[in-house]
Amino acid sequence: MRTIAMVNQKGGCGKTTTAINTAAAFATQGQRVLLVDLDPQAHATIGLGYDPDAFDRTVYDLLSGAENSLHAVVTHTQTEGLDLLPCNVLLASAELELGAVPGKELLLGRGLADARQDYDFCVIDCPPSLGILTLNALVASTDIIVPVQVHYYALEGLKRLLETIRVIRDRFHPYSMENISLLLTFVEERRTFSRQIQQQMREIFGDLVFDTVIHRDVRLPESPSAGESILTYAPRSRAAADYRALAREITDGEAKPDEQCAGSVIRRGIQKHLVNLFDGVWIPKGARTYRPGIIEST
Ligand SMILES: Nc1ncnc2c1ncn2[C@@H]1O[C@H](COP(=O)(O)OP(=O)(O)O)[C@@H](O)[C@H]1O
Ligand SMILES: [Mg+2]
Repeated sequence: MRTIAMVNQKGGCGKTTTAINTAAAFATQGQRVLLVDLDPQAHATIGLGYDPDAFDRTVYDLLSGAENSLHAVVTHTQTEGLDLLPCNVLLASAELELGAVPGKELLLGRGLADARQDYDFCVIDCPPSLGILTLNALVASTDIIVPVQVHYYALEGLKRLLETIRVIRDRFHPYSMENISLLLTFVEERRTFSRQIQQQMREIFGDLVFDTVIHRDVRLPESPSAGESILTYAPRSRAAADYRALAREITDGEAKPDEQCAGSVIRRGIQKHLVNLFDGVWIPKGARTYRPGIIEST
């Protein structure tokens, strides 16, 4: 089972959207998928059409040890092959309550142990913070996807995130968290700035950046109100094509764009270089095409 955490301490960058729609795209490929809602805001639970308060057992019970059986907490969704481990606002207290528990960063990994034989993919939607919940997701995951909005401020945040992941990795799991990928979101090919950020991100982070990008698409904010993934809500939309392409890039290891421009190479001029912003910042090993002397590789 591959366990993929959507991580970024910045809110609004597309973590939940990517968690729901990548999970749904895996399911439409015929994979068995578990989507874990680990954000007390319960956006993934709501986005799939559920009332968070209607569950008497949630991921919180699994973390706190009140429930040991994953199957007692999981719900089958309307999408064939896609199950949900829901949450509600009670999860917010986990940050405080679990703080003193020994091995507190391992609780989710333990809770998901039973999932290994039943699922091909586990996708975890993280809260917009780097607290105990995100730490649990990082430790439990084989892959980390960082959705990065193609905005300048988002890149500042990414710098902090990479530093934090390095610290967590040094402290807890020196050999894990290597498989980090960056997913560019809210991409607008017609905007010069969006193209420039995309190009520079590829120059700095190389293969760490998915070839597939997620374009800005107005259908995405609509789909949660229908309680559906974009794949059923608007299967022919740009965003549905992007998420299907992303799922294929993850499963096949290479990008096969669903339509014309996902992963297209951008050759327009650059006005301001982002390279200095990431000067000396730790970048995971996957980054192969960094510019020598500018980015330290470990
Ligand atoms: N590619 C996109 N195009 C347009 N809107 C998007 C896109 N990705 C996400 N959104 C919208 O932006 C908002 C924030 O996205 P969300 O996935 O909830 O971010 P996060 O979970 O990181 O806070 C939501 O309203 C979502 O529908
Ligand atoms: Mg979210």
